[in-house]
Amino acid sequence: MKRGLILLLIAAMMITLSACNLAESSAGSREKGYVGIAMPTKSSARWVADGNNMVQLFQSKGYKTDLQYAEDVVENQISQIENMITKQVDVIVVAAIDGNTLTDVIGKAHAQGIQVISYDRLIMNTPYLSYYATFDNFKVGVLQASYIEKRLGLDKGKGPFNIELFGGSPDDNNAYFFFNGAMSVLQPYIDSGKLVVRSKQTTMAQIATLRWDGSLAQSRMDNLLSAYYGSDKLDAVLSPYDGISIGIISSLKGVGYGSADKPLPIITGQDAELASIKSIVAGEQTQTIFKDTRKLAEKTVGMVDSILQGKKAEVNDTKTYNNNVMVVPAYLLDPVSVDKENVKEQIIGSNYYTEQEVYGNNAPAK
Ligand code: GAL
Repeated sequence: MKRGLILLLIAAMMITLSACNLAESSAGSREKGYVGIAMPTKSSARWVADGNNMVQLFQSKGYKTDLQYAEDVVENQISQIENMITKQVDVIVVAAIDGNTLTDVIGKAHAQGIQVISYDRLIMNTPYLSYYATFDNFKVGVLQASYIEKRLGLDKGKGPFNIELFGGSPDDNNAYFFFNGAMSVLQPYIDSGKLVVRSKQTTMAQIATLRWDGSLAQSRMDNLLSAYYGSDKLDAVLSPYDGISIGIISSLKGVGYGSADKPLPIITGQDAELASIKSIVAGEQTQTIFKDTRKLAEKTVGMVDSILQGKKAEVNDTKTYNNNVMVVPAYLLDPVSVDKENVKEQIIGSNYYTEQEVYGNNAPAK
């Protein structure tokens, strides 16, 4: 009888305890934190992946999220961030459309005690950034240019070759890092005459592509081809981003490149967007830079965790990213060069895309 009572009591205690736990974890999930995520545009697959990855990870850790895309319209992004402030989020993660336009709104967030993380692209001219989560942007440019260097055999003394250069958006700080990284490899060959830029357009002001717009790149390539490459053939194109590479390829195909007697030049890229990975396995685009957005999301979620627990987040760079007001503590992930040879290992092997997505029904034999 007494033993029965004790067992009953223990059972009752266990039920109460687990009920408490349940209540605690659901209250915990409500109170864990509310995160605003402001992304630039859905027109590029990478930002869609970035946003989805973050929402998934934040939610799996019990955070509430508010994900917004601004379709590359600066005013939209500013009002989306203003809304997040009104909704009293705890932290805002921003990939800026134009890094120079957010000073005021970030100031407003700060005034409400909301911390801001700059995501992938650096927000300029504000002292109120907690962290910057990105890839090693200079290295991205170095990898693109080193790929051209190796494939043309410049490092073995080959040349001269014709090259044209494309830059990213002039309002995106990253674009300058990509360009400077690339030129750190290419400039000596341009100086020695082993690389010839027939258009002579070699400054960012001349080669930039506003908002990374592939159709602008396509028309610039059209102009370059008709003005400078009548009978001469182009051997390489430095392209900073897959969307731009796709535009460049359309232009080149329009004047007959891509045939046996007029092969496409070596064309770099960035982001490992599915369209470009398919183009690479089809032998059109030559290379891209794989920046695993899942890892960037993971780092960013880790930063938010630290912020809300009142701890310092892990960073690995405290020198490089000066936004004109402060040097922003950053975590730089490692970019990886991908071409036809290592697509399987890097992209499919890491489950970034499935074999079916990349090759359709033409998967190479195992
Ligand atoms: C950059 C980013 C690149 C690419 C580009 C165009 O800021 O670092 O990976 O996505 O924007 O969206």
